[in-house]
Amino acid sequence: MSIHVPVLAGEVKVLLNLKDGDKAIDATMGAGGHTRGILFSVGGSGRVLAIEQDVEMIKMFGDVPQNLTVENANFRQIDDLAERNGFATADAILFDLGISRWHFIESGRGFTFGNPNEPLIMNLDKNSDVSAASILNSMDERGLAGMFAELGEIRPDIARKLAREIAETRKKRKFVKVGDLLAVVSKAVLKRGKLHEATKIFQALRIKVNEELENLDIAQKKAFDILATGGHLAIISFHSLEDRIVKNYFRELSKNGKAVILTKKPVIARREEILQNPSARSAKLRVIEKI
Ligand SMILES: C[S@@+](CC[C@H](N)C(=O)[O-])C[C@H]1O[C@@H](n2cnc3c(N)ncnc32)[C@H](O)[C@@H]1O
Repeated sequence: MSIHVPVLAGEVKVLLNLKDGDKAIDATMGAGGHTRGILFSVGGSGRVLAIEQDVEMIKMFGDVPQNLTVENANFRQIDDLAERNGFATADAILFDLGISRWHFIESGRGFTFGNPNEPLIMNLDKNSDVSAASILNSMDERGLAGMFAELGEIRPDIARKLAREIAETRKKRKFVKVGDLLAVVSKAVLKRGKLHEATKIFQALRIKVNEELENLDIAQKKAFDILATGGHLAIISFHSLEDRIVKNYFRELSKNGKAVILTKKPVIARREEILQNPSARSAKLRVIEKI
């Protein structure tokens, strides 16, 4: 099993500024790397609520200490989850967005173009009917083009070409596996060996399937409401679309005198960390303190 190494662990620890007895929420538990760090910071008398949408990730954590509550849910419901578990206020909240290394490598849900035989699922929520395949098979051509342009940041003319190719292909056969999408991608978009576009196409689908941008927009606002005065909200993002949402919201809070931005520029991983953990390459950490 590929273990997910938490990114920016030292920086997160310092900037969350937790102390013995505090209450904290880890909104994206994953394999629990950051959760363990937070548990250590709040000590035995503190409490931690960890939220994770993907039940397979939660299973990896092992024994749950008595001061940790784990919720298998979407962080979009962070307000209800916090309230229900006695976290009406929290001293720190962390979001470490996106998906884990395990999802890419071992989940078997078609998150990367490297595994052509995997089904096009890309869903974190096992109970949802939406999958990458269902989007490719049912969304109208205009919607597909918009999705690739907006969420994959692909040139609009290329996005339209890809959408046209998908619409033509599905008249003959449905999209089921990663390889089905790759065949269309290489026909419509890719020049030989140019995989960058494929990465962005997969990213767009994943963001759409999981409503990642909507979830973030809603959840960060709810999280701020839960935060105690003086509490810290830390968000690690992995692509510019997410980072923009966080940056704009933090600026708005600062402008309105509701928060102080603790990271004038986003914190990024040091070279040594990136060498050891390539996932850290695109990580950007932004932190605010509630006034
Ligand atoms: C980058 S990983 C987190 C890794 C974790 N911090 C660690 O140290 O192991 C992001 C995690 O957030 C989860 N996730 C993504 N969107 C979510 C959402 N809307 N609600 C709850 N969990 C979500 C993913 O399933 C994934 O496990």
